[in-house]
Amino acid sequence: MPLVNEESATDTFEKYRKYVITSFVKSVAPVVIEKAKGAVITGIDGREYIDCFSGISVVNAGHCNPRVIEAAKAQMDKLVHGSSYLFHVQPTADLAEKMARIAPAGLTKSFFGNSGAEAIEGALKLARLHTGRHEFIALQGGFHGRSWGALSISGYQGRKKGGGPYAPGVSFAPVPYPYRSQWPGDADECGRRSAAAIEELIHYATSNDVAAFIAEPVLGEGGIIVPPFNYFREVKKVLDRHGILFIADEVQSGFARTGKMFAIEHYGVVPDILATAKGIADGFPLSAFTTREDIAAAFKVGDHLSTFGGNPVSCAAACANIDFIEEEGLCENARNLGEFARSCFRELERAHPLIGEVRGLGLMIGIELVRDGRRTPAAAEAAALKDRCLESGLIVGLGGTFANVIRFQPPLVITREQVDRAINIFSEALEEPAH
Ligand SMILES: Cc1ncc(COP(=O)(O)O)c(C=O)c1O
Repeated sequence: MPLVNEESATDTFEKYRKYVITSFVKSVAPVVIEKAKGAVITGIDGREYIDCFSGISVVNAGHCNPRVIEAAKAQMDKLVHGSSYLFHVQPTADLAEKMARIAPAGLTKSFFGNSGAEAIEGALKLARLHTGRHEFIALQGGFHGRSWGALSISGYQGRKKGGGPYAPGVSFAPVPYPYRSQWPGDADECGRRSAAAIEELIHYATSNDVAAFIAEPVLGEGGIIVPPFNYFREVKKVLDRHGILFIADEVQSGFARTGKMFAIEHYGVVPDILATAKGIADGFPLSAFTTREDIAAAFKVGDHLSTFGGNPVSCAAACANIDFIEEEGLCENARNLGEFARSCFRELERAHPLIGEVRGLGLMIGIELVRDGRRTPAAAEAAALKDRCLESGLIVGLGGTFANVIRFQPPLVITREQVDRAINIFSEALEEPAH
């Protein structure tokens, strides 16, 4: 079945082919999006899709959220760019104040950029300046962006290939991944041992010059891996013993996605630097790193700037987005619908040997596909399943270091009825033989 009206889409496909640099051309969905609202995307041919990937986990408050759009439009009529680091701009100030209120305790000062990778680069630089140290510890399976510094701390060959060699001074700690750990079925032990491995890493792999440990509280691209709930507390004890900062990369897990404003809140640990992007402005390009005043003070005059960073339109959108998330109870929605969706996927798991594990927090859900009854990653099956879902009107993501995890990350405004329909489509696609 052709996915789109060939005639109306041909022009866009052709221009993409000729003029857009995209190494993802094979996997760019054969859909030309015309518009989107809430959790529904409409193609140029009028066909509707339930969006359970949110433009890579971005539109938490829904596509074209009226309150966000209204705030952005009102700001556009006044000022689009003033350079928020050369002059004082009201929406930038307002957003910084909001971030100080919603971020974990004590993180009161923000720097705004444009993308997740930019936030990570800034956070790394700040950690180095504050500590006077130069090395980093990151997680195997972690992903932090496509710039060179961010790739250097990403532990994921699928994303790094073609860009090496990378920055020296980065050591990778084992990922706390209960499903594939040496202690399956014992999450606590996995958490404890994985945290203890960091102490050993510091001793054996570093020159005792570690500025920061960076991790995603829930790993996104690595396959929606939820570290055991004791993990970050144990890690923090190790870091504190060695004077190492903790950078929490909440680019993907932030802004209510996991059922709390930030995923690290599930772990009862306060990071030293919080990096955010994606869900911060419901689709407008913006990122931030937020930290304590004493750490922020390491940036002296002239140390850091971003031309577009703190853009007034994006900041106005972000302020409206955060208000909407809080006032409309999106954390609660993510918790309730996440629990409902996981229970439905777990029912499918019992009937389908292809599903190895269903996991997640809130509406950040991963369905790991395996074959042979031996946890052999089923990457081809995952790609085919994702395509079959798309053909039937459901958008899901794909991830994992073995590319075998279906990612279910819908806008947090999705309704229970839409989740139901999405799971029905997923269930039928599971039954279909691969073609
Ligand atoms: C956890 C995490 N950090 C950083 C990034 C990079 O963000 P961006 O693509 O906006 O540069 C991503 C992107 O997927 C991410 O998932």
